[in-house]
Amino acid sequence: MKSCKSGSIVTWLSLLGVCLLPTTHAASSPSLLPQPVSVRWTEGTFELSPSTLLVVSETAQAEGDTLIDMLKPFLAYERAKDSVQQNDIMVELDTSLQKGLGTEGYKLKVSPERIRIRAAGRPGLFYAIQTLRQLLPAEVYSPKKVEAGPWSVPCVTITDYPRFKWRGLLVDPARHFIPKADMLRFIDLMAAHKFNRLQVHFTDNEGWRLAIRKYPKLAEIGSRMNHSRRRDDAGRLVGGFYSEEDIKEIVRYAADRHITIIPEIEMPFHTGAAIVAHPGLGINMGHLSTLAPEQRWGKTKGLIAPRPKTVAFLQDVLREVMELFPSQYIHIGGDEANTGHWAADPEMQTQMRRLKLADAHALHSWFIKQMDSFLTENGRRLVGWDEILQGGLAPGATVMSWRGTAGGITAARAGHDVVMAPTSHTYFDYRQAPDETGLGRNVIDLQKVYSFEPIPPELNAAQAKRILGGQGQLWGELIPDAKRREFMAFPRACALSEVLWTPTKKRSFPLFLRRLLEHRKRLNAAGVNYRPLDQSLIETVTVSAAHVD
Ligand code: ACM
Repeated sequence: MKSCKSGSIVTWLSLLGVCLLPTTHAASSPSLLPQPVSVRWTEGTFELSPSTLLVVSETAQAEGDTLIDMLKPFLAYERAKDSVQQNDIMVELDTSLQKGLGTEGYKLKVSPERIRIRAAGRPGLFYAIQTLRQLLPAEVYSPKKVEAGPWSVPCVTITDYPRFKWRGLLVDPARHFIPKADMLRFIDLMAAHKFNRLQVHFTDNEGWRLAIRKYPKLAEIGSRMNHSRRRDDAGRLVGGFYSEEDIKEIVRYAADRHITIIPEIEMPFHTGAAIVAHPGLGINMGHLSTLAPEQRWGKTKGLIAPRPKTVAFLQDVLREVMELFPSQYIHIGGDEANTGHWAADPEMQTQMRRLKLADAHALHSWFIKQMDSFLTENGRRLVGWDEILQGGLAPGATVMSWRGTAGGITAARAGHDVVMAPTSHTYFDYRQAPDETGLGRNVIDLQKVYSFEPIPPELNAAQAKRILGGQGQLWGELIPDAKRREFMAFPRACALSEVLWTPTKKRSFPLFLRRLLEHRKRLNAAGVNYRPLDQSLIETVTVSAAHVD
């Protein structure tokens, strides 16, 4: 690979068996998902040919490689041996675009002469490439090399940027361990839909999945909790945890796709696996401490006792978590703590008197504040589920509002940042139809997800700015493997991606459905085990399409 002129890298793309198609026009334009801010289809096509060049500004080399990777299923390419003077696909960083588009926005212009991608930041270039991918045949999503087919890219001018900066999904290896390869594949699917945050719920009652150097028993013992669903080839029950090396690889893989891994280390409740490994952390474990780790699935409801040495233990854990995860945000859970156990416990009553705390809610708040100040001193920010509001919110905390939007509204009004993740619209572990399997009885279908509005009408304009975005949850109790995870995630995540990316005035469920019908071809090519669309929904699309055309 050589520079053809200062600041540029040239790559030679040579095409296998190219077959050129006649002009593509707007009527057959590809379905883009999530829908960009502005799309103007024009006459003509850009033809990929053996002489197509990729010209990448020096600072955007990684995105050049992303583009090459993306074209791999179709193209055999070699990097240029010599300088070449043509500029067929140009990928440029242009800081003058920062003001209008931010770092995640981009401009993509396809004309018969060239494809030009410009953005102020590398994330923007990456998202432009994801959009360009959708202008190509669906087979470009295939992990395998496919026969080169039509290579016409329709001419179009796109200006695009996201509505929200937190576009998240959550996965839960604590309940059912997620092998590294499955995690990487999930990250790829997220990137294709322009998500940028993956919260990983590493610890819970059913498993501790993160190796911690200072306390190796956490993973060694805590990871054996998940015995109930997974067996190895010899039929033995298996658990699983991520080594430091695994985490580095996952974090790097995600970062290359502009996705931040948000680690979630649950406390003070949902800590059964930690307490099994270190019984001194807990309170009110009763008979559970007498059960072998393998017998505790679903029975351990671990609650940390917020003693000074417990606080120090968890801060040690967070210190290593910060070493592993560059994320500004560290999630400490904070949900569903049965503080009644603290209220009834003589040792905790003494602790509350010593700290001059009125009740167990105040003790919960005190505990969260210990973690908040620790993370803040270390240049990070605490994020927690909305129960962290009870007893008073820690000064630097960001609230993830899951029990509806009330917690998020209170937090935003108090000047705190908020991520909306309500059970009503974003719990993808809930069933998609009444006769399906899912946690609880609620049904969250595609239309329900699409109707999600992260900014509650109760907020004024200044408060609304506190809403960083939203997140879909794939809690793992009933998700034992990747196939099931994909079934629960897709196509609902397609709908959520549009809620979080596309301007409100451009959102339309019927038009989304039309585009989704096409988008399914990409999911098919990628081998995604998505939930099939209901026939009744498909029929509404067919009828409205006939009407439009
Ligand atoms: C939660 O679903 N307990 C955050």
